[in-house]
Amino acid sequence: MTAPSSKPLLLLGADGMLGRAFVELFQTQHRAFEALTLPRFDLTNPDSIKDAISTRFAAAINCAAFTDVDAAESNQALATQINATGVGQLAINCRLASIPLVHFSTDYVFDGNGRVPYPPSPSPTNSRPINIYGQSKLRGEELIREVSDDHLIIRTSWLYAPWGKNFVRTIAAAARTKPELKVVNDQQGRPTSAQHLAASTLALLDRRSRGIYHLTDSGDCTWFDFAKEIVRLTGTHCKVIPCTSADFPRPAKRPAYSVLDIAKSEHELGPMPPWQSNLAQVIALLET
Ligand SMILES: NC(=O)c1ccc[n+]([C@@H]2O[C@H](COP(=O)([O-])OP(=O)(O)OC[C@H]3O[C@@H](n4cnc5c(N)ncnc54)[C@H](OP(=O)(O)O)[C@@H]3O)[C@@H](O)[C@H]2O)c1
Repeated sequence: MTAPSSKPLLLLGADGMLGRAFVELFQTQHRAFEALTLPRFDLTNPDSIKDAISTRFAAAINCAAFTDVDAAESNQALATQINATGVGQLAINCRLASIPLVHFSTDYVFDGNGRVPYPPSPSPTNSRPINIYGQSKLRGEELIREVSDDHLIIRTSWLYAPWGKNFVRTIAAAARTKPELKVVNDQQGRPTSAQHLAASTLALLDRRSRGIYHLTDSGDCTWFDFAKEIVRLTGTHCKVIPCTSADFPRPAKRPAYSVLDIAKSEHELGPMPPWQSNLAQVIALLET
């Protein structure tokens, strides 16, 4: 591994679920960083993007995004402005400052019709997003790649952390008060600990890796499998019942199969821990 730059890292969107994981990581590792959040850093405001980026940073790590998948269906313009146009402007400013841009994308850039894990190709087969959020994130990837090769685009999926709005906290809270929960069993993917994702991303950046990577926990499951393990680990007595996506219609369609192939990341970083062991660590720290 190359020695990390002595310049500080710039963390954008620092108060989101993943942003907070980076803040904790940098503090634990005594890494110099500066954090920006809304309203000072606003991906809908080109001046705020320009003001944020400077040559004095080692890299910009962007955790800011429009992440409400269902709300994106009725807010296409805003989702596109934040996840695509704003990200493109961020890439241009990083190029002008000659600093790498680390950016996060999603399994939802895929249509879900695959049957084997999707490799981290730039223009992948099955890359026909079936919802507005996925389309906006794919466009963001494309704009970054058009501007410069000095980027690390990390596609990830099903993020969870002890904090923030995520499936683990939702199920853990519901399991405390409800005797049973119905959870969809026809979407398959890879859960990802935000804390592990932050640490793995920093390891790739320190190695000066560039391009598109997939980073998740290892193993895969359905939301039903995931919920059953959350309930087991929290020690509650809630019954988890499988159902189909059709039982719970939502504004945005979800891909049926969105397992990301993490072999390239594992080749560089070593094996990713199974989702069950990362989940157990997060459950132990869960904020209620
Ligand atoms: N969560 C997942 O399951 C998942 C899965 C795959 C990929 N990802 C990707 O991983 C990254 C991190 O996701 P996350 O779950 O940590 O998201 P998050 O918790 O929703 O955090 C996103 C952050 O961006 C901020 N933000 C929203 N609009 C903004 C704007 N116009 N300008 C600047 N900041 C803005 C939000 O602020 P407010 O809260 O104040 O709006 C929030 O702090 C995103 O790129 C996301 O697309 C997430």
